This record gives sequence, C-alpha cells and structure tokens, in this order.
Amino acid sequence: MQIRKAVIPAAGLGTRFLPATKAIPKEMIPIIDKPMIQYIVEECVDAGIRDIILVSAEGKESIENHFGRSAGLEEFLRSKGKFDLLKIVERVSSMANIITVHQKSPMGLGHAVLTARAAVGNEPFAVLLGDDLIDAPVPCIRQLTQVFERHGTSVIGVMEVPREDVSKYGIVSGKKISDRLINVDLMVEKPDPASSPSRYACPGRYVLTPKIFDLLEKTKPGKSGEIQLTDALALLAAGEGLLAYLFEGTRYDTGDKLGYLEATAAFALKRPDLAPEARRILARLLES
Ligand code: UTP
Repeated sequence: MQIRKAVIPAAGLGTRFLPATKAIPKEMIPIIDKPMIQYIVEECVDAGIRDIILVSAEGKESIENHFGRSAGLEEFLRSKGKFDLLKIVERVSSMANIITVHQKSPMGLGHAVLTARAAVGNEPFAVLLGDDLIDAPVPCIRQLTQVFERHGTSVIGVMEVPREDVSKYGIVSGKKISDRLINVDLMVEKPDPASSPSRYACPGRYVLTPKIFDLLEKTKPGKSGEIQLTDALALLAAGEGLLAYLFEGTRYDTGDKLGYLEATAAFALKRPDLAPEARRILARLLES
C-alpha cells in the first residue's frame, strides 16, 4: 500500500535552543537560508508524499505561515522582476498540502502523534521529526516506504551510534533478517549505555500502521511524565510486528547546538554557490 500522508510533530518547546526559541519555533531556525522544517517537508515531497499533517502548538503559527501564500511578497518580487526569488517563494507554498493540528500541551512525542489521529484516518502513514535532518541519496523516508511496500509491516529508520550515545535515543534490538533489516523484538527509550540491548538508535523516521493509535491511547506517561512513542512501538513489536531499517545517509540532530553547527557547515559545503568561500572561512577559523 502506498503511503500518502506524513505527520511532522513540531509542537515541542525546543528548550535546548533557548533563548532563541522563546519567540521563534525551533523548526523555523534556518540551516543556511531554509528553515529546518522545510528540509523535512521537502524530504516528504521527494518521497512522493504531499499530504502533511503538522502537529503545531501555541506560538508556532510562523510554521504554518511559512508554507502559506505571501501575496504581497510575490507581487513585490514580480514587480521588481526578481523571478528567481519569486519561483523559490511560490514553490514553498505549493509543494505540499499542509494540515495543521494543535497539541494543547507538550505531553510527549507519542501524544503529538496521537493528536494527528483524526487527520490520518485508518491508513498507514509516515512520521518525521521536525528537528532531525537526514542527508541521503534516496530520501530516508522513501527508503522506509519502500520497505513498507515490500513487507506491509511498520518500519522505523535506525542508525548505529557509539555506545556512550545510546542514552539519547530510542534503541531497538532483534534478529537481523538481511543486511539492513532487523525484526524488532525489543525497544527501549534512552537506556543506560551499560544495559543497552544494542547500538541501533532511532533518530526520527517511521512508517507506521494505524494500529499505533490504539496502542498510544493505552500508553501511560513514561520517563519524564510524557507519553513516549517508544513505549507504543514496543507494544507494536510484540503484537502486529515492527521492522527496523538501517538507512543510508547522514543524520544531523539540528535540535542540538553542535548538531546544528555541524549541519550548517555541511550544507554550506554542499552548496555550489557557497562551498568555495565556506571552505576558506572554515579553514581560516581552524587555523586561528
Ligand atoms: P524533542 O525532545 O527533540 O524536541 O522532540 P523538543 O521537546 O522541542 O526540544 P528540547 O528537547 O526541549 O530542546 C522531538 C520532536 O518531537 C516534537 C518536537 O517538536 C520535536 O520536533 N514534540 C515533542 C512534539 O511535537 N510534542 C511534544 O510534546 C514533544
């Protein structure tokens, strides 16, 4: 079955980026000249998913505005003959159908996904976290929808992390059924490095069947009082089944200060219009 809808939870408070996130949603902070969330929406569009359910919150209206029309700006650019910029601006508002649902308080990622239930309906869907960028030859979410199309089972994207970092992620373990595919039998949220069942970490890409909503309804608040998606995924693994796919690509945790810095440098070095000068600037900074 083809995946048509994606949920992007973007209702968190972004406390790791305070004070920047007092008045600006974390997801609107740009990497070079595009807000982080636009890269995520583009990943969906490049994977053939155009119906996007944005889980937003009070004070984050600028995310919706970014994907809406800016008639005044478009008219200005047209009148000045700035057609390249006009094309860029028009594309942002036309590339996807964005529906916004509101999470009334930040009760966790699982709760944010559950908030999207009515908008998703009874069909499998993708979930992409608003602050994880994955630079990949095939969009990461497309890699997962391909696995879903083949197996018909929920699948999460995983990457191998150093043991000392496992406590930052949901960690899966299970039986490897091919080079990149694992049949998940255990999933734990932020385990201690010493007791972690593996080093396979889930940074924020999922394709899920609607069964997850029933499981989230039953999930009680876990660590830190939030409803954890990981807890419902563990139930999914024990029941209907769950696969993990070692995706190809480089992931940047842009919700973290150093991850953000790394992503900004990496994306500048990839842009033909910026790379030569960016390289010189970075080299100069390293020498001083
Ligand atoms: P994070 O924990 O990385 O984001 O959640 P956060 O809570 O905004 O940031 P910090 O940790 O305080 O700095 C991962 C994703 O899930 C969303 C966030 O917006 C982020 O994109 N999220 C998290 C929600 O939508 N609702 C929540 O209740 C929690």
